Amino acid sequence: MNSTYWHQKFSIGSYSFPRFIGAPLDSITDSPLRQLVRQFSTDELLYTEMRHVGSVAADKDGLRTVRFEQWERPLSYQIAANSIDYIDSAIDRIIAAGVDIVDLNVGCPARNVIGSGCGSALMADLPRLECILKHLRKKLSIPLTIKIRAGFKEYNAVEVALCAQECGVDALAIHPRLQTQKFEGRPDYSVAAQVKKALQIPVLLSGNVVNWPTARMAYEATGVDGFLIGRGLWGRPWKLKELREYSQGRIYAITRKEILACALDHLRRMLAYYGPKGLFIFRKHVPFYIAGMQGAGDIRTQLVSLECADRVEAYLHELYASVE
Ligand SMILES: Cc1cc2nc3c(=O)[nH]c(=O)nc-3n(C[C@H](O)[C@H](O)[C@H](O)COP(=O)(O)O)c2cc1C
Repeated sequence: MNSTYWHQKFSIGSYSFPRFIGAPLDSITDSPLRQLVRQFSTDELLYTEMRHVGSVAADKDGLRTVRFEQWERPLSYQIAANSIDYIDSAIDRIIAAGVDIVDLNVGCPARNVIGSGCGSALMADLPRLECILKHLRKKLSIPLTIKIRAGFKEYNAVEVALCAQECGVDALAIHPRLQTQKFEGRPDYSVAAQVKKALQIPVLLSGNVVNWPTARMAYEATGVDGFLIGRGLWGRPWKLKELREYSQGRIYAITRKEILACALDHLRRMLAYYGPKGLFIFRKHVPFYIAGMQGAGDIRTQLVSLECADRVEAYLHELYASVE
């Protein structure tokens, strides 16, 4: 195994980043979760969730689309677009909010997204993709990246990747499944390996990297420059740190007390960001924080049925005090 590789960073434009990256997960890797990730990992690249350029352009006060803390950076802001409409005003707003990279989503499989020609539908329409990328390249003075799939209905990742490189994209992430596979089935690492071999710019892999053995195996199968961690980060904001530690020959084991402290911190950040509805949004993270605890089923039922944030906080405090 190439141990130097894991100690080195990879570059996008003039930035250098550690090998493990926080992937975009819509309505999961929001500002509160990214803030938690930053408690563990200071210099890893994090993506925002995808936002359509039309929504950003229409969001005059920026409260819905560009509300985050500067200390969440380095941050890659992910946009969706099906034409060059709204791009200029959206980019002005995103840049004014302070981000490091802009990423174009060319991989989303959702029906409403591909129905409007955005996301993975762009993989089946190269002239349209090229037009958007050339416009973005001209508009942006910070790095531009894209996130693609193995293809839309058929594999064409290498062709799309070469087109993106030609348009001046600085790096590319690939989630090597077709649109039809959504997030199921095995990602085809051989496609990521072909893309890596074909490009000069950095190539990042997304899909099923959840721990050190899967990271090492993904590197050996693809030779890519870095790894986006998606579902592995959900309910585990320490995951990028854990991966970095293992990759450098150290052991990382979070304690039950630290996990519950993290859950409490998450709840507080959700309430601060979303107001009272933060309690309900927090519920989708709860099962991860209590997984493996004795009586986890009952604890989860209790935590997701309490209607008052103070009571959830008090209950989490009780749990925190009760564990070693
Ligand atoms: C709930 C959910 C939301 C997602 N949202 C986005 C998104 O906004 N933008 C994007 O490029 N990919 C999105 N993805 C795809 C992930 O970034 C990632 O490519 C995929 O989940 C595979 O990686 P994983 O196995 O590490 O989760 C999403 C995936 C899931 C499961």
